[in-house]
Amino acid sequence: MADDIEIKEIDLTYAPEITEIHRAIMKGNITDSWMQSIELHLRKQDVVGYVAIKDGRVTGFIIGEIKGPSFGLEKSGWIIALESHPNHMGGGIGKALVESIFKYFKQKGVREIYTALRWDAVDMVSFFISVGFDRSEFINLGKHLDD
Ligand SMILES: CC(C)(COP(=O)(O)OP(=O)(O)OC[C@H]1O[C@@H](n2cnc3c(N)ncnc32)[C@H](O)[C@@H]1OP(=O)(O)O)[C@@H](O)C(=O)NCCC(=O)NCCS
Repeated sequence: MADDIEIKEIDLTYAPEITEIHRAIMKGNITDSWMQSIELHLRKQDVVGYVAIKDGRVTGFIIGEIKGPSFGLEKSGWIIALESHPNHMGGGIGKALVESIFKYFKQKGVREIYTALRWDAVDMVSFFISVGFDRSEFINLGKHLDD
């Protein structure tokens, strides 16, 4: 991990900084429901998350949870959200955050880790491959319900 990155457990007090990171990534185009869903996740009991702090500022965050039994697995660790601020991308923040959550999952006896990405989010796919992810045994199905 880069020496100048401090990792802290996430909590609701970081919500404004998390929103700012998401706003910067989305170029201002964010919805209230995104923030509400993050807050909802942070209030859940089985949720784990970390923020990365660099030069006194929150520059990235990760949120995950342990599911189980579900999807035919006794226990699995899921990464629900991971973002680093555009000004700091490529600086090791994403890697430091996933390493922290891997450590947490391992301590909890969870060895199978998953995430789901948009198929065209090539930057995210490249990042996750670089930290050891591969195609899983699941496929993702979707259907749109007409009005
Ligand atoms: C994907 C993301 C979390 C990675 O975080 P980061 O802090 O930039 O990643 P790191 O600097 O820790 O990089 C770790 C590794 O991933 C690789 N990587 C990171 N971003 C990459 C990219 N865009 N393309 C290819 N590889 C990438 C790095 O090369 C590095 O590999 P190395 O350790 O072998 O050098 C971050 O770039 C991000 O938040 N992207 C935007 C995500 C987004 O658009 N979300 C939409 C919200 S719904």
